Amino acid sequence: MNEQQRNEQAKIKTDLSTDRKSAQDKPLTEKTTEDFAHYFQTTYEPPNIRQARKRGRDKIEVHYDFHIPEKMERIGEGKKFLIRTYGCQMNEHDTEVMAGIFTEMGYEPTTETAEADIILLNTCAIRENAENKVFGELGHLKPLKLENPDLIVGVCGCMSQQESVVNKILQKHQHVDLIFGTHNIHRIPNLIEEAMYSKAQVVEVWSKEGDIIENLPKARHGKIKAWVNIMYGCDKFCTYCIVPMTRGKERSRLPEDIIQEVRHLAAQGYQEVTLLGQNVNAYGKDFDDKEYRFGDLLDDVSKIDIPRIRFTTSHPRDFDDHLIDVLAKGGNLLDHIHLPVQSGSSHILRKMNRKYTRESYLELVRKIKAAIPNVTLTTDIIVGFPNETEEQFEETMTLMKEVGFESAYTFIYSPREGTPAAAQKDDIPEDVKKARLHRLNALVNEQSKQSMASYEGKIVKVLVEGESKKDDTVLAGYTEKNKVVNFKGPKSIIGSIVEVKITDAKTWSLNGELVEQTVEVNP
Ligand code: 5AD
Ligand code: SF4
Repeated sequence: MNEQQRNEQAKIKTDLSTDRKSAQDKPLTEKTTEDFAHYFQTTYEPPNIRQARKRGRDKIEVHYDFHIPEKMERIGEGKKFLIRTYGCQMNEHDTEVMAGIFTEMGYEPTTETAEADIILLNTCAIRENAENKVFGELGHLKPLKLENPDLIVGVCGCMSQQESVVNKILQKHQHVDLIFGTHNIHRIPNLIEEAMYSKAQVVEVWSKEGDIIENLPKARHGKIKAWVNIMYGCDKFCTYCIVPMTRGKERSRLPEDIIQEVRHLAAQGYQEVTLLGQNVNAYGKDFDDKEYRFGDLLDDVSKIDIPRIRFTTSHPRDFDDHLIDVLAKGGNLLDHIHLPVQSGSSHILRKMNRKYTRESYLELVRKIKAAIPNVTLTTDIIVGFPNETEEQFEETMTLMKEVGFESAYTFIYSPREGTPAAAQKDDIPEDVKKARLHRLNALVNEQSKQSMASYEGKIVKVLVEGESKKDDTVLAGYTEKNKVVNFKGPKSIIGSIVEVKITDAKTWSLNGELVEQTVEVNP
C-alpha cells in the first residue's frame, strides 16, 4: 500500500466513524455481518483466491521512514506490554518487531497479564486448533479487562486477516480494543493512540499490501541466534493453505538491506542467523530490475563472518541447481534442509497445487544428496487431505522411508475458510485421519531415533544456548543439524560453539560430555 492509498484510507476511516456509532446503538444480538462490514470496506478484502492470484507485481515500495509520532514517544513510560505469540517463526519474529516498537515508545516487557497495560495476541490461522487456542485465551482475558478498563487488549497476526474471525471477535469478544493485521505492524503507535482515546473498537486490516518497511526497531529474543526476514508473503497458493491470503503477495527485501542486517548481527556477536520467508526459494522472483535469486543471496550472506546460517522454509518447486551448488560449498551454510513435501502421492500433490510430483521431489532429493553427501532432510506432512485414499496415504509412508527424513512436522488436514480445498466434499472420517497420523508419527519417531543413535560416540559442534529447562546444572544447545544436545559444562560457554562427545541418544535429543580441550570461549 502506498502513501496515497494510506491517506485515502485514513480519510475514509474518519468518514465512517459516524456509521460506526449507529451500528453500535443496536443491541449486539441484533447485529448482522453487514453491521460490521464497514470495518472492511476500505481496509480489508476477505480472502478471495481469484483476486489474490491476479495481484500484480508493480506496487512494491520499500520505506525507510518509520518513526514514532512525537506525542507517542514517551506514552509507555511506567507501563508494560505483553505479547503472546502463536504459530510459526515468522510470527515470533513479528513479535520481536512489535516489542521493538513498544520499547521505543517507553513500554517495558512483562510476562504477567496482571501487570500489563497492553496485551496483544499475535495469532496463527494455519489450522483450526491454533484459532481455538486464541479464542480460549480471549475468554480468559475478559475478567482482567473488566477489572481494569484501561487495559488495552489487542489481536494481531494471521487470524486478524480473516473477515469471519474479525466478525466473531467484534460480536463475541467486545472486550477486545484493537484488531490489526500482519501488514499494519508499523502502524502500532497510531493504533495504540486510537485505542487509548476512542470508545469504539479499533480495526485496521489491509489485505492488498505491497510495501516493505525497512527501518522498524527489533527487540530480539536473546543474543545468540537471530531471525532475519528475507521476504514476505506467498504466491504459491497451495489449495489447503490460508497463508497467501493472510500474508499477502511475495515481496523480497533488497539484498543490500538483508546483508547489512546480517553484518550488523555478526558485529554484535550473534552466532547463528535463520533467513526467514514462507517460501525462501522464491526470493528475488519479484525483482524486475535484476536477476538475483536465493542462491545469490545465500552466496553473499555466507561471506559474512557469522558461524551458522540456516533458512526456512523451502518450497521444492523453486529449489534450483544454482542453490544446490551454493549450499554444497558448505562453510557456514549448514547441511540441514527443511523441505516440506506435504504428501507422497502425486495425485494428492496435484490436488494440493504443489506443482511437483512424487518423482520430481525424489529427483530433487537425489540431486541434493549427491551434492551434499552428509545432508539432513526434514519435512512437513499433511495427512487426511480431502478424499485421500489408503493407498495414497501409504505412498506418504513409503516416501518418508525412501527419503530418510530425520524428522517431520505432521498435521491432520484442517479446512480453512476461503481456500479451494475447504470447498471440497471430504469422505474420509476423522478417526481414519487420526489413525493415519498415529501411524505416520510412529514412523517419524522411529526414523528420528535411528538418526539420533548414529551419533553415539561421535563428536559434534554445539551452539550452547543456555541451561536445560529441566535441570539447571545441565547446559543445552543445538548441533549443526539442529539436534538438541544436553551436557554438563561451565555457564561461561553459553553463547559459544563447543565440541561435545555424544554418550547417549534419545528419540528427540542427545546427551553428551564436553570435549574440554577444544572449547573456544567467546569474549
Ligand atoms: N491443514 C493442515 N496443515 C496445514 N499446513 C498448512 N495449511 C494446513 C492446513 N490447512 C501445514 C503445512 C505447512 C505447515 C507450516 O503447516 O504442512 O508446511
Ligand atoms: Fe502455504 Fe507454504 Fe504453500 Fe505458501 S508454499 S501456500 S505458505 S504451504
